[in-house]
Amino acid sequence: MLSEKITAEELSKIRSNITLTYGSRHFTKPIPKFELPEDGMPSDVAYQIIHDELNLDGNPTLNLASFVSTWMEPEAEKLMTQTLNKNYVDQDEYPQTTKIQNRCVNMLARLFNAPNKDTAIGTATVGSSEAIHLCGLSMKWHWRDRRQKDGLPHDKPNIVMGHNVQVCWEKFARYFEVEPRYVPLTNDRFIIGVDEALNLVDENTIGVVGILGSTYTGEFEPVQALNDALDKLNKKTGWDVPIHVDAASGGFVAPFLYPKLKWDFCLPWVRSINVSGHKYGLVYPGVGWAIWRDKNALHDDLIFHVNYLGGDEPTFNLNFSKGANNIIAQYYNFLRLGFSGYKNIMENLMTITKYLGNAINTIEELELVSDFNSLPLVCFKLKNPKNYTVFELSNQLRERGWVVPAYTMAPNAENVAVLRAVIREGFSLDMAEMLITDIQNALAKLKAIEAGIIKKIMPLGKNKKVTKIC
Ligand SMILES: Cc1ncc(COP(=O)(O)O)c(C=O)c1O
Repeated sequence: MLSEKITAEELSKIRSNITLTYGSRHFTKPIPKFELPEDGMPSDVAYQIIHDELNLDGNPTLNLASFVSTWMEPEAEKLMTQTLNKNYVDQDEYPQTTKIQNRCVNMLARLFNAPNKDTAIGTATVGSSEAIHLCGLSMKWHWRDRRQKDGLPHDKPNIVMGHNVQVCWEKFARYFEVEPRYVPLTNDRFIIGVDEALNLVDENTIGVVGILGSTYTGEFEPVQALNDALDKLNKKTGWDVPIHVDAASGGFVAPFLYPKLKWDFCLPWVRSINVSGHKYGLVYPGVGWAIWRDKNALHDDLIFHVNYLGGDEPTFNLNFSKGANNIIAQYYNFLRLGFSGYKNIMENLMTITKYLGNAINTIEELELVSDFNSLPLVCFKLKNPKNYTVFELSNQLRERGWVVPAYTMAPNAENVAVLRAVIREGFSLDMAEMLITDIQNALAKLKAIEAGIIKKIMPLGKNKKVTKIC
């Protein structure tokens, strides 16, 4: 039989097709980092290179810094993978996805006690931040309209909030030119004070923010007391200063764990609420929700109509395109869990929170800062941070893989430095036990360093790395 001659180039191609992934020449070359490479590489090689690099990231399950979900059921993941290619904004092409979003809005409005169930309105957003920008804008424009109607100046809007707000509120104030009026914290009050907040309100206040689950300590701000105080003030002055509740984390906790707590649309001055679907809504990042108590609370100027996708499509989001799959995953959780399912999960998280919190409180060097009446998280500090700090304790835990952020409180309580472990779905009692052991070992090591028994590699005190909290 005559053998067919093949060129060296063809031979090399055949070889590269049968080479094992780690036998690829790409593994012995620097990976392009700055310029688009001239040529590509086989898909398995590209996958493996990126996959391996990502091993340097922390382990999401051990990341107790974040409120954001790190686990979903395989069926949810399957649905999400199947709908990865859907752009949410294509409402005309994917009408069922829009219907699913609207069903979620309806369920949330009812969960949050909207007075007229049929006129509540809302939208899915990319997390609570976008929801906060939309709700903030709506409050600003309602205030502007009232002032314009009365022929009054409307160029100096302000918003009143505790200094413990998450950074998205600072962004809102700066991006949309609203003066932020912060209620300072104190050494024993880490959330808004009602009297202090009311003292900052004037005729240019577009709204007051109440946080249901402070990012710093998990505490719920006194929304009912804010409502009652504003009710009196608004009646006395004729102003119309509403409340926005930032329920980024607490919106999916309070209805299940604290059904008697009054914080939502059952209070007349609560006009809008944001909640993160990707936090205790138990969906992977990034989905949030903005809900207004009724159609009047959503300012018309936020709504745009486009016709270039076929059909008239109202949109009130900051961006245009976005993935549809986490909205679908939110609906999956609603169907799959129902009220009782969320309740069971939240109760379990609280059981683990209490177990971890109580154990931490029995450790001689530590003191609990959070309570067990708010978010499922454990916030704690060192009783005597003289010889080593929470930052060093955090770094020691990091060596074992745990991400337990250390940070200082917001202004005027910044001399209080704490650690915080957020308890999420996927964190078991067993893991809590391991964390307690590792905290004890880390403290023992820090004490040994302090006593000169172990040499410190990095000077204590200079090793202050603040982990971002979110
Ligand atoms: C109280 C509060 N508000 C807003 C946000 C921002 O939420 P998101 O990350 O969903 O944009 C956070 C995030 O942790 C938060 O804790």
